[in-house]
Parts: sequence; structure tokens; C-alpha cells
Amino acid sequence: MTSSSDTKNPAIPGYDFGSPDNARSSVSREDLLHLEQTLGWTGEDERLLLKHVELFRTKAGQMVDSWRAVIGAQSHLSYWFGGPDGKPDDEYKARVKARFVQWVIDVATRPHDTNWLNYQEEIGLRHTPEKKNKTDGSHTPPMVPLRYLLAFIPVVTDAREFFQGATSDARELTALERAWTKAVHLHITLWSRPYTRDGLW
Ligand code: HEM
Repeated sequence: MTSSSDTKNPAIPGYDFGSPDNARSSVSREDLLHLEQTLGWTGEDERLLLKHVELFRTKAGQMVDSWRAVIGAQSHLSYWFGGPDGKPDDEYKARVKARFVQWVIDVATRPHDTNWLNYQEEIGLRHTPEKKNKTDGSHTPPMVPLRYLLAFIPVVTDAREFFQGATSDARELTALERAWTKAVHLHITLWSRPYTRDGLW
């Protein structure tokens, strides 16, 4: 896996994985392990995603475009990317898209260590009033409601069309889809933490 501390990527504004400025996750190693066990996440899932890293590198842009199309087609979703005049904030959308594409690759490459945990807390916060808009100095609505993060999971996990060419081994293709699905669930579960009151997560 990519070393988790080779972090800053000046080509992606606001992408500061591993920075000391990231939020600190309060999730312990043990909490994380229990979550991974609950999801059925294993070393085999980790190896499989990494094995297909080139697929993720090649397809990440198209994957994000397809999810963006779903958001763009529903005004109650695209609302969260709109400026004070109600029109889409295209600069904000472009900056967030670049980080979103990087996230897809990170899902396949980043080990689940402290830097990774901290960045999951950070991404969760960036969907909430505490940090939304802060990274880009934008003026869109102050949060994405948690219910939409949760409801969007099936959109992001339904990635078969992008994985089709990855392997001719049908079992491996299914395992790859399962690994991606579990990884997405794990991420959103961690992002839900900043939305909850202390002690209730
Ligand atoms: C499965 C669900 C989702 C995934 C995997 C996801 C993923 C991401 C990622 C990776 C980022 C960039 C994090 C970074 O700054 O490095 C991001 C930011 C953002 N997402 Fe989501 N997202 C999801 C659901 C949603 C939904 C449903 C909406 C609203 C319709 C949304 C709106 C946003 C916005 C507005 C930002 C920018 C926040 C800011 O920094 O100001 N997301 N998302």
C-alpha cells in the first residue's frame, strides 16, 4: 500500500491527507477493528483493491462523473453545491471533484492507519457546518445532511460497469465489487461520526 504519509498533493487544492491540520479522529484502533470485523473487511479485500489500483486510477474520473450526474439531476442534491444566488458554484464543484477522484484512488491504496482515520474524520467534517466551504472559501449551504450521505451509498457502490474489464475471472470480479462495497460502507460509517452527539456514535 502507498505510504500513508506521502501526503500533500499541490495539484489538488484542499487535499491535505496527512497534514497536521487535519481533524483528529477519536476512533481507536480497537473501534476500527470492530467496525472492520462487522463489515467483514479482510486483508483479502485490501489486497484485491490494491491489485486493481490501475483500474481505479483509470476509472476514478468517470466514476465521479457518473455520481455527479445523479446529483446534478436532482435539485435537492445539487442544492448543496449552489452559491448564494442558487446557481451551481462551478469552481467549488471542480475543486471538490478533484478531491473526490483522489478519494477513489485512496480507497484502493491507503492503509487504514492513523493518518487515514484522521482524514476520514476530516472528510466527515467537511460535509458538516464545522468545515463545509472552509477548504475552498466558498459560500454554498453549510452542510450536507447525513441522510443524503447514507442514501447515496447504493449509487457509489453500484460500480460494476466500471469494473467489468478488470478481470475475466467472474469470481474475482464479484470479490472486487464486494471489497469496494465494504470499503465505501466503512468510509461513510466513519464520516457519520462528526454528525452524532458524543457517546452516541
Ligand atoms: C456515498 C456518499 C458520498 C461520498 C463517497 C462522498 C465523497 C466525498 C469526498 C471524497 C469529498 C471530498 C473530501 C475532501 O475534501 O478531500 C466530498 C466532499 C463533498 N461532498 Fe460528498 N460524498 C458523498 C455524499 C455526498 C452527497 C449526497 C452530497 C450532496 C448532494 C455531497 C456533497 C459534497 C460536498 C458539497 C462536498 C464538499 C464539502 C466541502 O469541503 O465544502 N456528498 N464528498
